[in-house]
Amino acid sequence: MNDVDLIHLATDVAGKGYAPYSKVLVGCSLVSATGAIYSGCNVENASYGLTICAERNAIFAGVAAEGSAFRIVQLAVVARGLEFPPCGACRQVIAEFADGDVPVRFIRDGAVVTMRLCELLPASFAFTAQ
Ligand code: THU
Repeated sequence: MNDVDLIHLATDVAGKGYAPYSKVLVGCSLVSATGAIYSGCNVENASYGLTICAERNAIFAGVAAEGSAFRIVQLAVVARGLEFPPCGACRQVIAEFADGDVPVRFIRDGAVVTMRLCELLPASFAFTAQ
């Protein structure tokens, strides 16, 4: 799965987004260590705070399918009509299931940009023994 193909998958699933409040349709597709592909879209809620981002929905689908062995090897996020990398909360959730060198792909200035997770979230929170 190359970077452009994964971005295309994320763009497709963004079309399924439920975003009546922000009108921002977001999709995320990822490849797990097993080679499987999982996708998710954002799902908003009238209470606003219960909204779930596309990235977390894709990741949680992967955990539901593969259990605690689930690991991300690459991930892409696309917002229709906007360009942004994963939000801070989703970066921390990605970090739960990905090594720091995992490529995270998104659109900037109309082109696919790839950053490593450790660039997007340096000094991420983790339990580390003394
Ligand atoms: N959103 C995502 O799905 N992923 C992000 O990384 C940032 C924001 C969604 C949440 C909300 O439905 C909409 O985009 C506007 O914030």
